[in-house]
Amino acid sequence: MAEWWRNAVIYQIYPASFQDSNNDGVGDIPGIISRLEYLKKLGVDIIWLSPVYKSPQVDNGYDISDYRDINPTFGTMADFDALLEKAHALGLKIMMDLVVNHTSDQHAWFKASASGKDNPYRDYYIWRDGTQEQPPNNWGSFFMGPGWQYDSSTEQCYLHLFAKEQPDLNWENPAVRADVYDMMNWWLDKGVDGFRMDVINYISKPDGLPDAVRSPDASYANPEPLVANGPKIHSWLQEMNHEVLRNRRVVTVGETPGVTTEEAERYASLKGNELSMVFQFEHMALDTSPNPVLGRWAERKASLRDLRANLSKWQTALHGKAWNSLYWNNHDQPRVVSRFGDDSSETTRVLSAKMLATLLHMQQGTPFIYEGEEIGMTNANFTQLSDYVDIDSLNAYQEIVVEQKLLDDATMLRCLAKHSRDNARTPMQWSDAVNAGFSENKTWEKVNPNYRDINVENALNDPNSIFYHYQKLIHLRHTLPVITDGMYQLVEGNEADDEIYAFTRKNADTTLFVLLNYTNDTHTRDYAIPAGAKRIISNYADDEGQTLRPYEAKVYQF
Ligand code: GLC
Repeated sequence: MAEWWRNAVIYQIYPASFQDSNNDGVGDIPGIISRLEYLKKLGVDIIWLSPVYKSPQVDNGYDISDYRDINPTFGTMADFDALLEKAHALGLKIMMDLVVNHTSDQHAWFKASASGKDNPYRDYYIWRDGTQEQPPNNWGSFFMGPGWQYDSSTEQCYLHLFAKEQPDLNWENPAVRADVYDMMNWWLDKGVDGFRMDVINYISKPDGLPDAVRSPDASYANPEPLVANGPKIHSWLQEMNHEVLRNRRVVTVGETPGVTTEEAERYASLKGNELSMVFQFEHMALDTSPNPVLGRWAERKASLRDLRANLSKWQTALHGKAWNSLYWNNHDQPRVVSRFGDDSSETTRVLSAKMLATLLHMQQGTPFIYEGEEIGMTNANFTQLSDYVDIDSLNAYQEIVVEQKLLDDATMLRCLAKHSRDNARTPMQWSDAVNAGFSENKTWEKVNPNYRDINVENALNDPNSIFYHYQKLIHLRHTLPVITDGMYQLVEGNEADDEIYAFTRKNADTTLFVLLNYTNDTHTRDYAIPAGAKRIISNYADDEGQTLRPYEAKVYQF
């Protein structure tokens, strides 16, 4: 239990959208440095930096062409060193994004690999005989279309689970693993404090790369059931732990789509022989379409029952065995207040954002806050396709509307407005100045027009803002051990409640009682609140006991 990061809160920065310092319309490292004091004020402990490495930016930096250099739009290695030094001086740690399931097709390894079948780097990637018409198997790419790209000069195909500019590394090759470990050690020797590992549970592909199950109306099969948590994943992560992580004070989180609680118990075991924790995705799938081809392109809202059942399952399964991560948001997900909350009015936006923050931050695990979440930034509200820039959103439109005609334009635009990754990537709203104080120049991604009201400056000037609610939640985690170590339990009879979520956290000397109204109506419950219980945080000034007002959230301690 003694790991330093167990009561820490992590803040994710998406560098392109955080703060532009040279007015080229793209955020950068000097911009991040200029905002460190702000993060210190919020109270977070660790910054997870989405990729700043050299990259052609086909997938916004998740396509890396040089693991040991900084992309010029973000600055230089000297800027990075300054960031690390200033963050450390303020007591903030830096977690790097580690993208090693694939590289960019512009990486020197891939260029060598593609240059000839006899090149020593050929085996750094996954090449098989096949053609564009008859690829080696039926796998699709997670960004739509086939998962294989034919290379006419060497007459073979290479595997890419994501864009064709993101070829998958061949982890079966010990030289690949040694190079990755070497690179990780290089960053840790420089002083970084850990890694968030991009789709790390996809690195072990099944022997023989068999076909996956294809749904009848899909052109390609979803490879996830075969590539997630593959046969060698645990032995390679243990090897990585041995070669890089053990004996260092680092924190790691694996991005692991398709992970089950049983798998997570192994990845994030308290024994610490693989990773510190993993991101599970089940709660992010509660509002997806029943049609597997459409996946997350849907318009549903998750019910409280489904959400509670899922979060409770993870809280209970991992307690005492492994460690949870807790998140609502990241650069791939829509904004939590628009998704699980209610951004239809200023009042409901503020109340529901605080309620959802309380829900998450009172659970066991390490909470992640995504930039702008702490001021209740909302979805982008884009209405036309030309507003979108994300490769995944644009490919999805092409496939679903243009090619397969599964949805019409208007429906797909509504689905994009709900689920596009661009919702997370609009520039950080600092003030009501031009472009929200993010940049003086045209921004790479549109600024959300609601920045005049929703911005950091306003939040800091309002003692009742969402910002100060997050600040208080973080402070509570740092000062009340029960939030870190206490047992989670649903209040009896709460399982089937469609409006109110009620749970306790309990250790040897403290109990917390968390009451949350998931709806915009008032509800009364006869849950017994012990006499003498102290209300330690709420989104309402006064307390009406068993009557819960719209989106009311409160925590009692006794
Ligand atoms: C992860 C990243 C996402 C990226 C993908 C491919 O899911 O979070 O942004 O597109 O991996 O690297």
